[in-house]
Amino acid sequence: MNLSPNIWLRDNCQCSTCVHPATRQRLLHTFQIPQDIAIDQFEDAGDSIKVKWSDGHESQYTQDFLSLALANSKQMTGVRQGTVEPELWGARIKDNPPIAHYDNAMGNDGGSILPVLSNIRRYGFSYIDYTPASPQATEELLSKIAFIRETHYGAFYDFTADLASKDTAYTNIALDAHTDTTYFSDPAGLQAFHLLSHTDGEGGASLLVDGFKVARELQKEDPEAYNILATVNVHAHASGNDGISIQPYRGFPVFQHDPDSGLLVQVRWNNSDRARIELPVDQVKKWYDAARKWDALLKKKENEYWEQLTPGRVLIFDNWRVLHGRSAFTGKRRICGGYINRDDWISKYKILQFGQEEVLKHLATN
Ligand SMILES: [Fe+2]
Ligand SMILES: [Zn+2]
Repeated sequence: MNLSPNIWLRDNCQCSTCVHPATRQRLLHTFQIPQDIAIDQFEDAGDSIKVKWSDGHESQYTQDFLSLALANSKQMTGVRQGTVEPELWGARIKDNPPIAHYDNAMGNDGGSILPVLSNIRRYGFSYIDYTPASPQATEELLSKIAFIRETHYGAFYDFTADLASKDTAYTNIALDAHTDTTYFSDPAGLQAFHLLSHTDGEGGASLLVDGFKVARELQKEDPEAYNILATVNVHAHASGNDGISIQPYRGFPVFQHDPDSGLLVQVRWNNSDRARIELPVDQVKKWYDAARKWDALLKKKENEYWEQLTPGRVLIFDNWRVLHGRSAFTGKRRICGGYINRDDWISKYKILQFGQEEVLKHLATN
């Protein structure tokens, strides 16, 4: 077996004939590189290495690039995925939830939204207080992160509970903690709520649960149950609207891990929208037993964070981590909000947090 990384090094030459300087797209024709490409000359230039290849091309690699290439990927997801050590929380976060100020978030500086995104990355959610209680102000805030994701319910929404869309979200009944859009292969990354008004009634407190925290609890208490929920694929659907039955192209487990780093990256949990469990019927009980434990942990008082939303306070949360629900209510509630794609908000976060140059450094390496 030939273990030489020469083909990889030659393929990842960073010069402007090999990589377009503006688009950072590969220009070289990878499969015209001779299979037995070799190093003819090699020069250590201090902070970089110069290489003359057997095909005549000359490359230069920074020490930075080379050391990233050799780094252990398990420790290096920070820049590539914008991962931070999550601050896990339970009911007591009520005393000190992550809050940003609307005026600061909407500052002229392109980076003014970063504190909001940092909160979401660390805690899975952020409030944005002192937001004008209007759909326009809320939409502008979301647009500061990225474009709003359109679904069969529309894009930015502004609704009262009237069952205009056939989903329990549009009713006044209580909703257990869940994540949204499990029926998409790529569930919504962020979700925002802004309660614009609530008249002639009461109730409708919002529930948030830190899915990463509860997942860790389950893993500790019952590793086997965790493993079942991390491996058995579950299907989902959205079929309430006429002529529509959205289903992901495959089933996905409740807990999704990054195969490279092993980190938990996504919790998918919506018992209402659940469809087929991908197990033979005579083995399916083990999934129910595991899910029952998970459900019980989700409903533990110390894991449930209840808050009454008020006009002026926008809630944005990571739909891949934080589950949401609400209590039943009476009267008329007007809520606006929307979804943002996972890759779009993480991209924004990474660029603001690390800078374009640092992010691009990690394209071919760890
Ligand atoms: Fe929901
Ligand atoms: Zn080159």
